[in-house]
Amino acid sequence: TAAGEQPASGKTIVLGTSADFPPYEFHKMVNGKDQIVGFDIEIAKEIAKDMGVQLQVKDMSFDALLGELSSGRVDFVISGLTPNEERKKQIDFSNNYYKAEQAVVVREADKDKYSTMKALEGASLGIQKGSIQEDIAKTIPGAKITGLGKISDIVLQLNSSRVDASIMEKPVAEAYIKNVKGLVIADAVPDYKEDGYA
Ligand code: ARG
Repeated sequence: TAAGEQPASGKTIVLGTSADFPPYEFHKMVNGKDQIVGFDIEIAKEIAKDMGVQLQVKDMSFDALLGELSSGRVDFVISGLTPNEERKKQIDFSNNYYKAEQAVVVREADKDKYSTMKALEGASLGIQKGSIQEDIAKTIPGAKITGLGKISDIVLQLNSSRVDASIMEKPVAEAYIKNVKGLVIADAVPDYKEDGYA
């Protein structure tokens, strides 16, 4: 309704997210203004609308999200967050709303080199701090892990040959390689079972 556009209560709910994760949450220039947009942001908007409140989006590094939520500095988190057992001890999850596979991203010239997970043994990996990809990376023998807060920085490191590979969810990998010349998805596929978002 027209009246429904303006929340009657004037209240705000605060979303915590790490906006480095296209197509789910990412920065985009809209009408000359930097905005955080994406699939997860649309879900957050619907939740706010149902509640009749304003949505405020707080962008932060991925590894800060759970702490911010636990301490009440944000009201909820939508950030491609996988509901694993460890996190379930700390926070409550909704049902899964999405399911994504994992992918390995490498430089184009190295595509043949990383056709299996075995080939990643001993490689240097750029990994988002606090993510399930960090857990996956730790199972790779000899892997040297560089933990970074933002996936955009991992992509830069990969592009400038400071790391050999990265692991991220496939739709996110696809979104990045579309915009960054010289990066591809390798044939190596991480074996990971708890791959939903909640
Ligand atoms: N699904 C992975 C996890 O829960 C990665 C999520 C990263 N999300 C983000 N917005 N950067 O650990």
